[in-house]
Amino acid sequence: MTNQQLEEFKKWFYDYVATFYGSDQLYDDNIRLKEDHTRRVCSDIVILAKRMGLDERQKLIAETTGLFHDVGRFEQFKRFGSYNDVGTVNHATLGLEILANNKILDCLSSKEKEIIETAIRLHGDKDLADNLDEETELFAKLIRDADKLDIYLVMVERLDDLKDNPEKYMGTFGYPASEGYSQNIVQAVLDSRTIDYKDFQSINDMVIAMLGWVIDVNFVPTLRQIKSRGHLEKLVNFLPPADDIRRVAGHIQKQLETRINKG
Ligand SMILES: [Fe+2]
Repeated sequence: MTNQQLEEFKKWFYDYVATFYGSDQLYDDNIRLKEDHTRRVCSDIVILAKRMGLDERQKLIAETTGLFHDVGRFEQFKRFGSYNDVGTVNHATLGLEILANNKILDCLSSKEKEIIETAIRLHGDKDLADNLDEETELFAKLIRDADKLDIYLVMVERLDDLKDNPEKYMGTFGYPASEGYSQNIVQAVLDSRTIDYKDFQSINDMVIAMLGWVIDVNFVPTLRQIKSRGHLEKLVNFLPPADDIRRVAGHIQKQLETRINKG
């Protein structure tokens, strides 16, 4: 893969996204949300790839997975007016169809194409398939880390507004902003268990579960970014000042430090 190819991919992608604008403002805002997300994921994935010492070709492949991982989001929103895969369509699969119909990745070697397609296909799955070859697994893990980094950012940026206007987010998240939190969510994070979205009773539960995501982060450079950006502290400060929350925060902080120190 060459830099020239990446430049052509970028041109195609941003021209493609531009065709989705022009309806009402709320619609355009939703399209922009995913376009901006893609831009930040591309920049983050390159940072991670550099910190991990990947070579030039690998950095290009990584950025391509960042560029295209959510390419299905725009058509999904156009068709269904929603980003919830449940009840609409798997946006990763839809993205792969769009890339195939436009023959975007056909200029790459079959191995490169396969790696990028697999990373896109699996980026949103709850757990990563364990039958991947080493190189495919690397890129599949990398895009999941870069995606998580940006979900942390998006959430952290909305916390103040969320506190002031909880009703505005009922539609986005589907959970009320209550004062309390669920004991079983606290316990799941303390036990490093994954939590199903169905189990959330409130925004607080979702924020507590997001702290627990640190356990699923694949690479130390991602953990370093989470630490240096202060995402976890901001999430903790949003939550009620209870002993449970201090325990969760301490547990997660310890996990983070231990993994970073191990390198
Ligand atoms: Fe996605």
